[in-house]
Amino acid sequence: MEEAKKAAGEQAADLVRTGMRVGLGTGSTTAFALRAIGRRIRESSLHVMGVPTSFASERLARECGIPLTTLEEVEALDLALDGADEVSPELNLIKGRGGAHTREKVVAAQAKRFVVLTDPSKDVKRLGEKRVVPVEVLPMATGPVLRTLDDVCTEATLRMGKEKDGPVVTDQGFWIIDARFEGGIDNPHAIDRMLRDLPGVLDHGLFLDMATDIFVGHPDGSVEHR
Ligand code: 5RP
Repeated sequence: MEEAKKAAGEQAADLVRTGMRVGLGTGSTTAFALRAIGRRIRESSLHVMGVPTSFASERLARECGIPLTTLEEVEALDLALDGADEVSPELNLIKGRGGAHTREKVVAAQAKRFVVLTDPSKDVKRLGEKRVVPVEVLPMATGPVLRTLDDVCTEATLRMGKEKDGPVVTDQGFWIIDARFEGGIDNPHAIDRMLRDLPGVLDHGLFLDMATDIFVGHPDGSVEHR
């Protein structure tokens, strides 16, 4: 899928125009867009400011020479570019396989246009069909949140690092619980509301009614625009 990701990332980077403030997503597909924006800054004097969605995207943006700003300094973003783990026919998403969904949602919510870069492997009929929903949780609230999730999903597990690293720690110092919904989620808006209301949950990976465009890259290098 590398060619597909590259095609989607590079075509989305062409949406960026001088003067824009752009949200910079996280993940391997968006990385192609960041590198392409960096090339245009070097080669064709494009002037933009980026707001990164994670320490990883901040580091990559710096490497690519993209000037950075914050949501303190700018009021709105013209565009946000980001990847996804699942995309439904209604353009709803699951994000957060990289654990960056909380900042990604904050940045996407500030953007006039939220363009999601995917490949055909991310398409689902119902959210939750293939991937878990990541739930970012305050470490001391892990027990209660796991017990509540056990009643609403098929399986909830604390995301662990490699070998004996212990739980994965997010950029906020929180942990992640992965909630699996066998066969997909019947009512994503109800799950969204339930998760938002749980004490100790910072945010979760359901992105509903947020994406304005989906760029689906294909292995032959073509890009489908939804
Ligand atoms: C990180 C994300 C990523 O955007 C998502 O996991 C897609 O990543 P990739 O482009 O590497 O498949 O939500 O939190």
